[in-house]
Amino acid sequence: PFGSTATIVVFGASGDLAKKKTFPALFGLFREGHLSSDVKIIGYARSHLEEDDFKKRISANFKGGNPETVEQFLKLTSYISGPYDTDEGYQTLLKSIEDYEAANNVSTPERLFYLALPPSVFTTVASQLKKNVYSETGKTRIIVEKPFGHDLESSRQLQKDLSPLFTEEELYRIDHYLGKEMVKNLLVLRFGNELFNGVWNKNHIKSIQISFKEAFGTDGRGGYFDSIGIVRDVMQNHLLQVLTLLTMDRPVSFDPEAVRDEKVKILKAFDALDPEDILLGQYGKSEDGSKPGYLDDSTVPKDSKCVTYAALGIKIHNERWEGVPIVMRAGKALDESKVEIRIQFKPVARGMFKEIQRNELVIRVQPNESIYLKINSKIPGISTETSLTDLDLTYSTRYSKDFWIPEAYEALIRDCYLGNHSNFVRDDELDVSWKLFTPLLQYIESDKSPQPEVYAYGSKGPKGLREFLNKHDYIFADEG
Ligand code: BG6
Repeated sequence: PFGSTATIVVFGASGDLAKKKTFPALFGLFREGHLSSDVKIIGYARSHLEEDDFKKRISANFKGGNPETVEQFLKLTSYISGPYDTDEGYQTLLKSIEDYEAANNVSTPERLFYLALPPSVFTTVASQLKKNVYSETGKTRIIVEKPFGHDLESSRQLQKDLSPLFTEEELYRIDHYLGKEMVKNLLVLRFGNELFNGVWNKNHIKSIQISFKEAFGTDGRGGYFDSIGIVRDVMQNHLLQVLTLLTMDRPVSFDPEAVRDEKVKILKAFDALDPEDILLGQYGKSEDGSKPGYLDDSTVPKDSKCVTYAALGIKIHNERWEGVPIVMRAGKALDESKVEIRIQFKPVARGMFKEIQRNELVIRVQPNESIYLKINSKIPGISTETSLTDLDLTYSTRYSKDFWIPEAYEALIRDCYLGNHSNFVRDDELDVSWKLFTPLLQYIESDKSPQPEVYAYGSKGPKGLREFLNKHDYIFADEG
């Protein structure tokens, strides 16, 4: 782990990600005592900003903590404005780091560089860093943010550009879903409970779905989203990571390489994604006309086929999962914001029961973390009928409110600080995920793919969803 006198440099410090996620996460770690008051935090970006304005900007999104804590944190930070592509700014940065290290008698420099940058300047900054600021005798860690390429080819190119500069050991590819509490709980839940461990296979599981819903649209960032689409934005990375943890075999230990080896193994067992087995949608205006449709965004081409909703059927060909239908679905501008996993078990034999429903395990990632298992139970009292009810572990009622559950970015920056790679994406894992998704993306973005079905902003999504889920063996409770 890094000690108490490390330097953290955030590139893209004046940007949105840094303001909304990176700095609030660093502050959260400081507030909770996980970042020492001896560290140095430097923001670096092109924009000319007065130090005070920079501090105002980053602290706007801080949560919790009293004004003194905010003040103490801001004292650790400074801002350097400089170009990304020439040496001068990096020389200023180096001097600032070295002055701090000298003043603190640091013998082995520990430097964490967080690249909250658009892909266009990614490689430029990485090369400049290596050339000007890298310490051959120190420890360096680089956090990089998605997108890691646009498809298999560009992802490999990025990899080719970065690998001569920094080792895999030094690189931390963030997928913030891996920092979410419930996602981090998946391996414990699965492998720490024989009740689940023993039935986690095709003999007992009927269907699996992972669902991601957002109650807001692209909100003015349509121009950016248009070249990305929902599949690339959240499925190829976030949801695939969740599915991988849900379906992989037991790693020999929690060792980062052991975990990631198993992840790669299961990803290689995934069937090619079938363009016939998808449901695509794009949101239109809300029913009352108060919310704009995707195409109403002036930055979006009027004839855009960009997909803001997708449901994909996924198959895994291995001993554990052969024949179990999996659905991954994600959409923007829906009726609610929610991310959850639903596992339906096979029904028991009808025999003695007039009516009996399937067990279903629901793992709600957000909001309000919760795990509940739907079980059949006798209706209490004189009735002999059964009903479906929940064994319910809702975090907010089970655990005290003072329990600090770190935000995803807080958890991951802390992991990186400790030198733990478990919850970061390894190069081969990234490669297989692009291999899986690139042909499907090429199809969706070609003329061959159908026009996405229009659904109303604020609705449950495309009309065909229920039928799509039924086809993949998911039965709604009200269907019996
Ligand atoms: C980001 C996507 O990676 O994840 C956004 O680019 C999406 O479009 C976000 O809104 C969702 O993250 P969270 O943590 O809010 O569920």
